[in-house]
Amino acid sequence: MKYIIAVIKPHKLEEVREALGGIGVQGITVTEVKGHGRQRGHTEFYRGAEYTVSFVPKLKLEIAVDSALADRAVETIQASAQTGQIGDGKIFLLPLEQATRIRTGETGPGAL
Ligand SMILES: Nc1ncnc2c1ncn2[C@@H]1O[C@H](COP(=O)(O)OP(=O)(O)O)[C@@H](O)[C@H]1O
Ligand SMILES: [Mg+2]
Repeated sequence: MKYIIAVIKPHKLEEVREALGGIGVQGITVTEVKGHGRQRGHTEFYRGAEYTVSFVPKLKLEIAVDSALADRAVETIQASAQTGQIGDGKIFLLPLEQATRIRTGETGPGAL
């Protein structure tokens, strides 16, 4: 299994969620975060407003997937979250040791 952490522009959430659903991703956790990338201290646009502050609002997506689906999920996020403007975000791919569905006690990919 793999664990995907993606930081995206907030207005791209619905597009990303639908695209991931289309390739069979089952679950997703979304958290409101703030961050910056390489353009630290530079301006960035968010909902029509120009941010000159150090941190810009983003959404962090966390997605556990079967290893067989991981590369496709990363490509799907990349394509659906892209605007081509600065601040489009990043995708990180990590190994995932175990997953447990609390309700049933299932473990491994079957728990996802
Ligand atoms: N190296 C990093 N580690 C952790 N989070 C990052 C990193 N780079 C970017 N991010 C997150 O992704 C968001 C968008 O980054 P982005 O501006 O698209 O990156 P860059 O300017 O490096 O192309 C940032 O606000 C931050 O939350
Ligand atoms: Mg940036």
